Amino acid sequence: MRRCLSATSQLSSRALRRSFASSTALARSDDDAAWHAAQACRLVLVSTDPAEKAAALGVELGEDLEQVAVRSHAALNVSGAPSQVLDTAPARPEKPELVYGPFQRGNHSLPQYLLHSLAHIELNAVDIYAHTVAAWGPGGPKHEAGGGSALPPQLWLDLARVAQDEARHYFMLERRMRAIGSFYGAMPAHRALWSHAEDTNNDLMGRLAVIPMVQEAHALDSGPRIDERLRSCNDHASADVVAQIVQEEVDHVSVGLRCFQTASAAQGLDPVEAFHGRVRQYVPRLLPGPFNEALRSLAGMGPEYYKPLQSPPRRHPDKPRQRKQPKQPRRKPDAADA
Ligand SMILES: [Fe+2]
Ligand SMILES: [Fe+2]
Repeated sequence: MRRCLSATSQLSSRALRRSFASSTALARSDDDAAWHAAQACRLVLVSTDPAEKAAALGVELGEDLEQVAVRSHAALNVSGAPSQVLDTAPARPEKPELVYGPFQRGNHSLPQYLLHSLAHIELNAVDIYAHTVAAWGPGGPKHEAGGGSALPPQLWLDLARVAQDEARHYFMLERRMRAIGSFYGAMPAHRALWSHAEDTNNDLMGRLAVIPMVQEAHALDSGPRIDERLRSCNDHASADVVAQIVQEEVDHVSVGLRCFQTASAAQGLDPVEAFHGRVRQYVPRLLPGPFNEALRSLAGMGPEYYKPLQSPPRRHPDKPRQRKQPKQPRRKPDAADA
């Protein structure tokens, strides 16, 4: 299956370039553009290599989404984009090895480890947004029956643009990893990230709640702390990359919030209550603080969305772990204690 997907994606990638070079027409409306963008997102899911995923979204070629929309129409005939693509994990490179649970950093430096973790998160985000648009967007199998038609074409285009951003973020990190002597695949990475997509495979509102409104919003909380950790290692160039990415993630939370509010309105639901319900369903541990209220507010997300869902703090991430005091040997009670 993997070999088959890989061969398909190589073919698709070549076809993408040819069709782009010969294409002169432009998408004429948001409806057309959103439909074509959804097809481009299917190509992302069958593309194994991150560069091919980025090419499918036009990142590698420096295209805007309208240009992507035009040539994805031709590429669709080549790729076939079977519908079962949407029910299986996306094609991925052989490395990194995906594991559950924690793993040792080994000989890798802290900046190498942090950038690798972030690059893996970005690549997952590319696939998850691509899957969302391909499944529920215009022309997708869940568009009508699954509630995707509640979102206007412009919002589907915005979600596809988020997938483009994530691919660009991946390559910003990948370039920086190479500059400090590492590469994507040099160490294991978490398997659990894709499970968020699997959990919400039949629930568009659940997907929007868990990915942009929980995961991406959490990146606004944790990103500045990662920036600080990199600066404490004197890796200011990596910290600058992370700082730029965090700023751009604000827009992703904003897009997800607008999509969720629109989907809630279509069903006559209060968006805050609907969000709380979805988080309790899919995120049993709820939301770890502390929250970056300034960045969340910049994204349009008020505290009514997240504060009632804050999980009890286990340990402040910026506070060093307290060493246990060694136990004093017990003194035998003597007559004076009595
Ligand atoms: Fe990102
Ligand atoms: Fe993002």
